[in-house]
Amino acid sequence: MLNKRVFLSASMLALAAVSSTTVLAAEPFKIGLILPMTGQQASTGRQIEAAAKLYMAQHGDTVAGRKVQLIVKDDTSVPDVTKRLAQELVVNDKVNVLAGFGITPSAFATAPIATQSKTPMVVMAAATSSITNASPYVVRTSFTLPQASVSMADWATAKGGIKKVVTLVSDYGPGIDAEKYFKDRFVLNGGTIVDTLRVPLRNPDFAPFLQKVRDAKPDALFVFVPSGAGAAVMKQFLERGMDKAGIKLIGTGDLTDDDQLNDMGDGAIGVVTAHHYGAHHPSAVNKKFVEAFKKANKGMRPNFMAVGGYDGMRVIYEALKASKGQGGGDGLLAAMKGQVFESPRGPMFIDAQTRDVVHNIYLRKVERVGGELHNVEFDVIKDVKDPGKAK
Ligand code: PHB
Repeated sequence: MLNKRVFLSASMLALAAVSSTTVLAAEPFKIGLILPMTGQQASTGRQIEAAAKLYMAQHGDTVAGRKVQLIVKDDTSVPDVTKRLAQELVVNDKVNVLAGFGITPSAFATAPIATQSKTPMVVMAAATSSITNASPYVVRTSFTLPQASVSMADWATAKGGIKKVVTLVSDYGPGIDAEKYFKDRFVLNGGTIVDTLRVPLRNPDFAPFLQKVRDAKPDALFVFVPSGAGAAVMKQFLERGMDKAGIKLIGTGDLTDDDQLNDMGDGAIGVVTAHHYGAHHPSAVNKKFVEAFKKANKGMRPNFMAVGGYDGMRVIYEALKASKGQGGGDGLLAAMKGQVFESPRGPMFIDAQTRDVVHNIYLRKVERVGGELHNVEFDVIKDVKDPGKAK
């Protein structure tokens, strides 16, 4: 009797152990994707969500035996909302990874939560250099404004024949980065900055600023505005006849965002920008990506935000594979660092020291190709690290 009881309880224990590992293995791997799906930055949310879903459709939703679950939340690009959503995702949903982050203040608001909970935080959109310093759990797959701005300043002086510039940026993290890194490099190269103008992020009215630029008559106006705001700048620049007054328009590629470019009209032709991605990038990997993205999204053209989301999913999937489905924060983070792969943007590398992206920056000019407006690449600076981390 005693023996039987011992045997029974031992086998029950064994059963319990088996069923608990089964439950563990069957538990989904959760990615909390926080994006601005409504409000001023809604195009960023739309693009990244579409890209993440495309990646999952192409690579399956089971990785290393774990079912991958994507939980999409709309933060309306309000940082307090981003923070609350991140907290809920970590505490209630027990997500394995936080991802998305449409604007810099949303990323900064969430970084302490990533640190406290040891949850990897994959930044797919926000692009202020210092975001990666805000938490050791941040990994970035978007880009940094210093990468694009320094490259633009070098082209402007070396090849653009531009000597006098006014800068116009959105007055927050990425804009301040763009202004500083463009200005310092341009001045170092012998150029003159006539004025530095900053416009509010929320509901900007570019008119009074553009009037100032027209009066200052620089060779060029250098612009950073976040994805989605470029069309308004372009429209008002052209309405004021600033192109006809001989002022060139240059900027980071956020200005000639592929999401809007086709609707900007022929006035955009000739605008030169520096950026890490354009839908026209002529590689086989990108052609396949653009085709599949359009097919899955009623013809929508992917922009650089979409690529940040797509590559972010790649980094997460490969980390889950490398950690053999374990999904623990530190294991995932270690497997995210140092990933090297070919992205639709070209070669890409997650620097293990900085957790930031290293990639090519392309010089592009807006041209009409096959009836559509595109950022057509004409030069490349290879393997650009974030200049914000050089010191
Ligand atoms: C940012 O807030 O970091 C940001 C947003 C949109 C961009 C670039 C940077 O296009």
